Amino acid sequence: MPLSNERRRACVTAVAAALPERRVTNQELAHQVDTTDEWIVSRTGIRERRLVEPGTGLSALAIPAARRCLEKAGVAAADLDGIIVATISGDQIMPAVANLVQHALGANNAWGYDLLNACNGFVAALSTATCFIEAGRAERILVIGGDVMSSIVDWKDRNTCVLFGDGCGAVLVEAAAPGSGNGVVGFELHSDGGKGDDLSLPCAGSLKPPAWAKGHFIHQNGRVVFQNAVRRMTEVVDSLMGAYSLTKDDIDLLVPHQANLRIIEPIAERIGLPMDKVVINIDRLANTTAATIPLALADAEADGRLKVGTRVMLVAFGGGLTWGACYLRWGR
Ligand code: ACO
Repeated sequence: MPLSNERRRACVTAVAAALPERRVTNQELAHQVDTTDEWIVSRTGIRERRLVEPGTGLSALAIPAARRCLEKAGVAAADLDGIIVATISGDQIMPAVANLVQHALGANNAWGYDLLNACNGFVAALSTATCFIEAGRAERILVIGGDVMSSIVDWKDRNTCVLFGDGCGAVLVEAAAPGSGNGVVGFELHSDGGKGDDLSLPCAGSLKPPAWAKGHFIHQNGRVVFQNAVRRMTEVVDSLMGAYSLTKDDIDLLVPHQANLRIIEPIAERIGLPMDKVVINIDRLANTTAATIPLALADAEADGRLKVGTRVMLVAFGGGLTWGACYLRWGR
């Protein structure tokens, strides 16, 4: 759908990724918990994941992802107005990872904060950055999605540990050139706090401080999360398509949160998109929470599917429960 020339728009002008070196296959996990490669592949589509060495903070991935993103865009760190990092596994509660990135880059004119919205974090952060740019309150914001899930999963719990990986991706959001036709068209965000307990990290906050270490791991009701993920991601894409009178032919690329291949396939089917228009990397990277979408964008750019003008639908779902979608035309 064409964008109005009168309204100031936000556009995404570069993407970059940072992944840990260490690859861990399903077979290796089968030595640790009672599972098999066959079970993991058939139930989730995951074959391997990347994991950091224990004791590595998210900033070790976020800083290189941010640097690469700015290099690709040809933008100096001093020209950034803001940095938003979507994560549930920052180095520490305080300072925010965004502040660590800001200092490492020398982005001396940028504010920064972390945004906590689980697997929907990147879509929420991109939407927030879009609002700043559209309102004329910023020109350039770095949006980073990343998680070190290996630090918050229980490596003795086969129900959760096989599902996750570590990784980080960054995009640069800038004011679009007037009349270019590219940029963020719309987004939609939702929450259902009533189902918060179905996907939680109980002991990291004020109610149960981290010292009560046993609850400091991801807890989930897998079946409820699965059903809600399919339902809500389909609904929000439908709703956004309706709001902007889009048909499936207006979507060149679907970039969904990578939680489970069996969650992604029915969503694509219900929208009516063939799987060659869907970006999948869960087989190689597992669920990296706030990083799945920027990492998938980086993959799509590398394989030539994401170019200036590509019409992209992003959609995510995660703990909260919370979900959202964003439709945009890539590039300036
Ligand atoms: N290896 C072998 N068996 C396992 C494993 C494993 N790694 N994990 C669970 N099982 C067993 C369970 O113990 C259970 O056994 P039981 O029936 O004897 O009790 C059985 O497998 C579970 O079977 P199902 O619930 O039918 O498995 P299902 O096909 O639903 O798949 C899964 C489970 C993969 C967790 C699925 O429900 C899912 O993907 N849910 C979404 C969860 C998710 O993605 N969370 C990530 C965060 S949220 C997000 O990103 C959207």
